[in-house]
Amino acid sequence: MPEESLRITDNRTGKSYDVPLYHDAVRAMDLRQIKKDDGDFGLMTYDPAFLNTASCMSAITYIDGDTGILRYRGYPIEELAGKRSFLEVAYLLLFGELPDAPQLTEWADKIAHHTLIHENLKKFMEGFRHDAHPMGMFVSTVAALSTFYPDARDVMNRQSRRMQLLRLIGKVPTIAAMAYRHSLGLPFVYPDNSLSYTENFLSMLWKMTEPKYQANPVLARALDILFILHADHEQNCGTNAMRCVGSSHADPYLSVAAAAAALAGPLHGGANEEVLRMLDEIGTVSAVPEFLAKVKAGHGKLMGFGHRVYKNYDPRARIIKQTAEEVFRVTGANPKLEIALELERAALHDEYFIKRKLYPNVDFYSGIIYQAMGFRPEMFTVLFAIPRTVGWMAQWLEMLDDAEQKIARPRQIYTGHELRHDAAYRCEVGTPVAAA
Ligand code: SDX
Repeated sequence: MPEESLRITDNRTGKSYDVPLYHDAVRAMDLRQIKKDDGDFGLMTYDPAFLNTASCMSAITYIDGDTGILRYRGYPIEELAGKRSFLEVAYLLLFGELPDAPQLTEWADKIAHHTLIHENLKKFMEGFRHDAHPMGMFVSTVAALSTFYPDARDVMNRQSRRMQLLRLIGKVPTIAAMAYRHSLGLPFVYPDNSLSYTENFLSMLWKMTEPKYQANPVLARALDILFILHADHEQNCGTNAMRCVGSSHADPYLSVAAAAAALAGPLHGGANEEVLRMLDEIGTVSAVPEFLAKVKAGHGKLMGFGHRVYKNYDPRARIIKQTAEEVFRVTGANPKLEIALELERAALHDEYFIKRKLYPNVDFYSGIIYQAMGFRPEMFTVLFAIPRTVGWMAQWLEMLDDAEQKIARPRQIYTGHELRHDAAYRCEVGTPVAAA
């Protein structure tokens, strides 16, 4: 009996089975041999919301939720955020190594080459209502890219994959900025490829009549750090959507749109917007105890707190909190910060949150920075989706190259009616239906 194995005894039959372990996991298909009788389908695993199910093998991001560790391709997030640029980290996530100087120059040039979008997409975006949620505009417009690049359907063609990832990483800031400008009734600003990736995004957001936009270097750096922190996070809900839709060989534009749609949910990337609404609802530091009492009584959640994997402080939240101080030196402190700090202090000392291992996650402080930088809460999840497009594409590439992967199609445990017949059917046809 191999050491790395389980011996399972089926008490229904008295039979025992040696099931090998694989990276400390049981392959679910190895359980199918366990049957009540020859006609039995065999055992499945049941795991709603995938609380304890690995859907893939991945070498991109490592998280240790108990100790609050996050690494991209083995590098601790603390050694990348603020030390490397977002485009360097994007290269790392996508291709496995940090770029050298020539590689980075070529990479940045290729991304810059794809920042423009087809002029028809301007008309497409102009069709949205003035108060359309920017995330709805982002998801729809990314999906619409699929209609402009039919070559993307050839997902097994490596050259095509590389072209689509350049287009997506180049264009998502342009689309995001257009959604922002549309919501304000301002004219769209074309990309300025003489600027860095993040400065170009700020230019498309905030350039007015000046000949050339001058980004505040502190804000540009802070946004670059936030982009790095949001770039990937292993098999989160949005990435699971990317892999699932991508597994049907839908093109990457449709798959990224599906992933962004998942990210928009308030339990996922939409939480940063909900945190600001929560802070507005609380209103003052003195109202924090009453709000927490309501949460503990089951009335609502402490948005920006808790995580499926982190049962310790989200390392990204710690870096974002440090970055907030740099931003506030330029923008002035966001008064909401005081309420957030008191919420964190009170929650981290409250048995309800301690017992459930609820700590601030990436969304708790990010919105406070975004608001101080001038963004409205509706834009916060779009700001999450821009960098996460890199993570989604890295995971998509890995999935397509994984020989074990195929179209995702979970099983179910059926709990509905047994066979039954429609009495009307019997009468109409007049002949008795053969007994089941
Ligand atoms: C992101 O997966 C990722 O990696 C995601 C992400 C990424 O980078 O892609 O990190 C980004 O999505 C961060 C999470 C942002 N969402 C929020 O901040 C929304 C608030 N948080 C919760 O909704 C919740 O914590 C989740 C959704 C994040 C995690 O939910 P789980 O793992 O399903 O945990 P659960 O809902 O089963 O909660 C366990 C217990 C429950 O209490 P009991 O039923 O045991 O009494 O903790 C409670 C929950 O009620 N709880 C909370 C809470 N989160 C969990 N109670 C109050 N406030 C909260 N925020």
